[in-house]
Amino acid sequence: MADGAVDIHKNARDEAWAIPLDQLDISLAERFQNNTFWPFFERLRAEEPVHWCAESEHGPYWSVTKYADIMTVDTNHGVFSSEGGITIANEREDFKLPMFIAMDPPKHDAQRKVVSPIVSPHNLAKLESVIRERANQIFDALPVGETFDWVDTVSIELTTQMLATLFDFPWEDRRKLTRWSDVATATPESGIIESEEAGQAELMECAAYFTDLWNQRVNSEPGNDLISMMAHADATRNMEPMEYLGNLILLIVGGNDTTRNSITGGLLALNENPDQYQKLRDHPSLIPSMVPEIIRWQTPLTHMRRTALADFELRGKTIRKGDKVLMWYVSGNRDEEAIDNPNAFIIDRPRPRQHLSFGFGIHRCVGNRLAEMQLRIVWEELLKRWRRIEVVGEPKRVLSNFVKGYEHLPVRIVG
Ligand code: HEM
Repeated sequence: MADGAVDIHKNARDEAWAIPLDQLDISLAERFQNNTFWPFFERLRAEEPVHWCAESEHGPYWSVTKYADIMTVDTNHGVFSSEGGITIANEREDFKLPMFIAMDPPKHDAQRKVVSPIVSPHNLAKLESVIRERANQIFDALPVGETFDWVDTVSIELTTQMLATLFDFPWEDRRKLTRWSDVATATPESGIIESEEAGQAELMECAAYFTDLWNQRVNSEPGNDLISMMAHADATRNMEPMEYLGNLILLIVGGNDTTRNSITGGLLALNENPDQYQKLRDHPSLIPSMVPEIIRWQTPLTHMRRTALADFELRGKTIRKGDKVLMWYVSGNRDEEAIDNPNAFIIDRPRPRQHLSFGFGIHRCVGNRLAEMQLRIVWEELLKRWRRIEVVGEPKRVLSNFVKGYEHLPVRIVG
């Protein structure tokens, strides 16, 4: 760092350990964008792992920051409900989007069952060759030796193609999916949308586009894509238009942002840990254990939120009925009591699947195996081609307290 420059990481560390705990609002999006949120979670885990924030932009909320406590909340859907929203942000009364991730049983279970076959072992096996072929087409076109943006050229393109395949979506229009995914989680401050209203208008275009596809699929034989599955199943065939849109957004964001940011995060992690990159080159057989380590290290969704249906004691604190409870996966994944040396990126960790990034309980990620497969294929194919892909500038991170990801990552392929 140049003399006189402000070290934002040191300042954040000082602030994190000095701020009175009753004034700490861990949810500030700027801290996620500039990657200075880590010491604040460190402090909470050490001093007040179940923490009440009385005032925030999103109202009062509890933060649960230790691995074991997050498991307690995530696996108790009888007390911790998903109805009413699964992120810290409050639902907009005038733009409600029901989706099964934000429902409790029995409706949640019935709708989840409809789309689950998309990731059956049989379907995954079929998808593997498609993903591999498309990944190679993308890699064929990369400008070796030149600087380019890994996020747009590789991560977004790959996951968008995957999503278009899952929906059997018109290929030439597939970047609409990327846009709708970004819009669905954007706030006006992010610069992605101009206003809430403009964002909603775009999502209504998404609804109209997908309604055409629904009408085509419902009048055809049942197919193997997500729209056809929903159009032909009892639990979903009579959804209201906003519920259809809600479930689409769930599948678009679920399948897109998360995997995209893991593809980018993995490359960044390997560059920040050259010994691990070397180990990977020496032992490509480590890819299957590296993939869950990437997903832990990245934690693409920082948190999930629940609402308490009854009073509940957790580490001596009383969570009251009606309270908003945030399970900070990003913190639980760095909990030294659950994971050895949690801040280190270690591609041959024992038990690499021991992480919270996919959640637990009845809402555990539907697409986890698909996401892992995609990452595995990416690294298998990249290692065959090039010795190293070098990160040549600072990543630009997303302004969000929910999606932990990247807007840009400049890289250069070293042949
Ligand atoms: C690395 C990639 C991914 C990560 C980190 C991730 C993370 C998550 C998390 C944290 C949850 C909520 C878990 C809970 O509340 O306990 C979830 C649910 C979900 N994910 Fe993923 N996801 C990823 C990839 C995918 C993919 C590729 C798909 C689509 C095919 C997908 C579809 C879903 C769906 C539909 C749900 C809702 C499940 C339910 O409510 O029952 N996800 N995911």
